[in-house]
Amino acid sequence: MAKPIVLTGDRTTGPLHLGHYAGSLQTRLKLQKDHDQFVLLADSQALTDNAHRPEKVRENILEVALDYLAVGIDPDLSTICLQSHLPALAELSMLYLNFVTVARLERNPTIKDEVRARGFGRNIPAGFLCYPAAQAADITAFKAALVPVGEDQAPIIEQTNEIVRRINAQAGSEILLEAMALIPKAGRLPNPDGKGKMSKSSGSAILLSASPDEIYAAVRGMFTDPNHLHVQDPGHVDGNVVFAFLDAFCDDLGEVESLKNHYQQGGLGDQAIKKRLDQVLQALIAPIRTRRAELAREKAFVIDVIRRGTERAKQVTEATKQEVAEGLGLFSLSRA
Ligand code: TRP
Repeated sequence: MAKPIVLTGDRTTGPLHLGHYAGSLQTRLKLQKDHDQFVLLADSQALTDNAHRPEKVRENILEVALDYLAVGIDPDLSTICLQSHLPALAELSMLYLNFVTVARLERNPTIKDEVRARGFGRNIPAGFLCYPAAQAADITAFKAALVPVGEDQAPIIEQTNEIVRRINAQAGSEILLEAMALIPKAGRLPNPDGKGKMSKSSGSAILLSASPDEIYAAVRGMFTDPNHLHVQDPGHVDGNVVFAFLDAFCDDLGEVESLKNHYQQGGLGDQAIKKRLDQVLQALIAPIRTRRAELAREKAFVIDVIRRGTERAKQVTEATKQEVAEGLGLFSLSRA
């Protein structure tokens, strides 16, 4: 039996950070073993709010690919492919846009949040407003059943499935598959300063390529409990960034539980919990950083991984585009 298909992707706007690791990379590492997994370097989507900074989008393709390979996404198990080199995705996007209203795009909660965060006001690039339809094209072109993403992406998957139902209804057959978002149970990782969720734009994200000193400095400066002034004071665990990180990255759940209890009772200082977190993060990132540095010296290999993956993805996505064009009743010169 064919393996279930998984599709995920990342905008190529910067190297990946621990938020990506907790939010989606870990899931991908598990899924690649018994699923047919495609991982999309979403450079076209990155361009929807970076059209005047193409070098940022272009240069980060390799950075993100290095992150994938360094964390253990295995090109023999997962297909890493480049969005802008898959014309079927752009063609499907154009078709899907006829089944989406502007009002529905404007109401999409993810779009609303992102428009606000970018301060677009009324000057939203049309490509940006329409990216949910393009992302629907990404997901459906691969006939993905599962899409591991952060919780912020849930409304995009919801809108994808609306488009799927409309296309299938128009075609009168189940050409496209509804997809399920796989959202990690733990919420998104906070920034070290406790203000907002970790993101590339926050400027304080801990990168997967962070040096030992950068990790140490980020942990040392982490927001804890501002009222926990003396070691013997009882401290709060909720909203405490150090514990949010221990929850996400310390494998020994029992240890985290007992640290939390001790901290809440009093007698456990911020320095001690930060020291433990520093150990956990150093141990997590060190092998990733080493592998990444090795791969960075093998650029031709990395480019070849992307090239081969994109070739395979091209076959899959072209086939779906043909089916959709036919299903929607478009003219075909080759059949005329
Ligand atoms: N929107 C995703 C993000 O910002 C990136 C992305 C593009 C994606 N295409 C995708 C994610 C398809 C999942 C499936 O991170």
